[in-house]
Amino acid sequence: SRRINLAVIPGDGIGQEVVSQGLKVLRAVLPQDVKLETQEYDFGAKRYHATGETLTDADLEQLKAHDAILLGAIGDPSVPSGVLERGFLLKLRFAFDHHVNLRPSKLLPGVGSPLAGRPEIDFVVVREGTEGPYTGNGGTIRKGTPHEVATEVSVNTAFGVERVVRDAFARAQARPRKKITLVHKNNVLAFAGHLWTNVFNEVAKEFPDVTTDYIHVDAATIYLVTDPGRFDVIVTDNLFGDIITDLAAAVSGGIGVAASGNINPSGEFPSMFEPVHGSAPDIAGQGKADPTATVLSVALLLRHLDYEDEAVRIEEAVAADLGERGETTRTTEEIGDALAVRVSG
Ligand code: IPM
Ligand code: MN
Repeated sequence: SRRINLAVIPGDGIGQEVVSQGLKVLRAVLPQDVKLETQEYDFGAKRYHATGETLTDADLEQLKAHDAILLGAIGDPSVPSGVLERGFLLKLRFAFDHHVNLRPSKLLPGVGSPLAGRPEIDFVVVREGTEGPYTGNGGTIRKGTPHEVATEVSVNTAFGVERVVRDAFARAQARPRKKITLVHKNNVLAFAGHLWTNVFNEVAKEFPDVTTDYIHVDAATIYLVTDPGRFDVIVTDNLFGDIITDLAAAVSGGIGVAASGNINPSGEFPSMFEPVHGSAPDIAGQGKADPTATVLSVALLLRHLDYEDEAVRIEEAVAADLGERGETTRTTEEIGDALAVRVSG
């Protein structure tokens, strides 16, 4: 019989609330013969205050044993900005080589958006996850003086660019429209821009049935609002991807529904699935958080583990729920219950 050994990291703020609903829906959708084992980890602000640790090598060893990781959100105003971001989230993405950061955007009927009624919003951003300006390759001289100089070097390797570009092409090929857009800034970023454009054009030769396009990142922010239908799969670097996926979330229903996967495609390390939203400490513990983004992240997790039917059932349940939601205000738990009923029925 089949088995999923899942690491669960509720984290801070609303993380606990949304993750318990995500798990509820996961349990409801899995067939009887699949044994779900979960182990909860206490990473986040509380552990940091108690021990000064964010994520140790021993933690990484333990996490490695799981098939996948479900994360709520990490971050709290009591911890200085950057400590948990770099010490936990980025550390995990780098340690487990999560080089495909997958962020789908689909505007579902009934969802509030500045672009509501534009059903053509259905694209996925493949954001590189382990390179670019996120590598911490920089430095400061004359710190604190009027002559301080700070560098933050964007690291782009042929190996790293090629593998994420090839992954994105394969995803484009598997979608009905078979279109891929490279988003970069190769008119200014001459070196990295050259590498990305070159690799993109080379890999394109392996996928003759995929239509290719290129757009500068600044122009891409315009099209994401004025003509989002032109996008199918977008591939881009770590920082551009960070920025445009927040915009993508905003136009496709907001962060209440934006899901993401930090994927290690080879399966050498467990992939991690998380809502794009943060820990929202201002509404934590009030049952106001929308668990939909976490539930959709569970669908991505299931798809990654080859439970395609179950992933589709969750996505259909979410679409149906959003379509009937209207102006009603429900608690986090009520939404989770409704989705759990839909996926099991
Ligand atoms: C995200 C977040 C992170 C990022 C931060 C919290 C490090 O904004 O997942 O998009 O920049 O990748
Ligand atoms: Mn971000």
